Amino acid sequence: MIIVMLGAPGAGKGTQAAAISEKYGLPHISTGDIFRSNIKNGTELGKKAKSYMDQGKLVPDELTVQLLLDRVAKEDCKEGYILDGFPRTIPQAEVLTQALAKDGQKVDFALNVDVPDENIVRRMSGRRSCPKCGASYHIEFIPPKKEGICDVCGTALIQREDDKPETVKNRLSVYHEQTQPLIAYYEKAGVLHTVDGTKDKDDVFADIASILG
Ligand code: AP5
Repeated sequence: MIIVMLGAPGAGKGTQAAAISEKYGLPHISTGDIFRSNIKNGTELGKKAKSYMDQGKLVPDELTVQLLLDRVAKEDCKEGYILDGFPRTIPQAEVLTQALAKDGQKVDFALNVDVPDENIVRRMSGRRSCPKCGASYHIEFIPPKKEGICDVCGTALIQREDDKPETVKNRLSVYHEQTQPLIAYYEKAGVLHTVDGTKDKDDVFADIASILG
């Protein structure tokens, strides 16, 4: 089962992808997390990606596409996977479609988590993430049991650099220009399902689980 998560920045793609991964035992592959881990480790890729991410721009395809194709070729992806943050442009989607077709595969579900722009800034400004295990929280909507501390591994939570309001504005406009057209792309492919991402996270997941079966 190959699943693509669609939706604006902060719509809840990562939150839902983590829940799908747990229930269905599929690897959760987030290109954003791969870049953030490279930034943390000070790699060349991380240095290059950071300059784009800090401005809310997309990382160029030449740094993104092969990285993703190499990741999904790994052993743990044999039974399927969840892509969170890829594809993000029509050219990325076309590369993915062609690479899958070579192995007689295709995207089975494109799940569009729909949240209007006016809710996004509030979601992003309250987001806190664990720099160690990647768990994501919200100070108001999904708080950790102990303020500022990850429930899973006990690490101090941090706020993402690109969650500042001015960067969020750029990310939203990049989303509308370059990523939103993927909704029509996957609708045409007959695999698009839209869920109301403004509901409580467990209700959003219940809707997704009924789609995935
Ligand atoms: P990436 O990390 O993919 O960021 P994004 O798409 O902007 O999405 P987010 O991670 O911000 O949000 P999300 O939808 O996962 O929401 P979350 O579950 O955290 O990418 C970052 C950057 O990397 C990009 O800007 C780009 O530069 C680069 N990049 C990555 N992939 C790329 C690619 N393919 N090509 C080029 N560049 C690429 O939820 C948000 C908050 O809301 C959290 O606090 C959460 O707890 C809370 N929340 C979640 N669900 C609910 C709910 N139902 N109700 C209330 N609160 C909720």
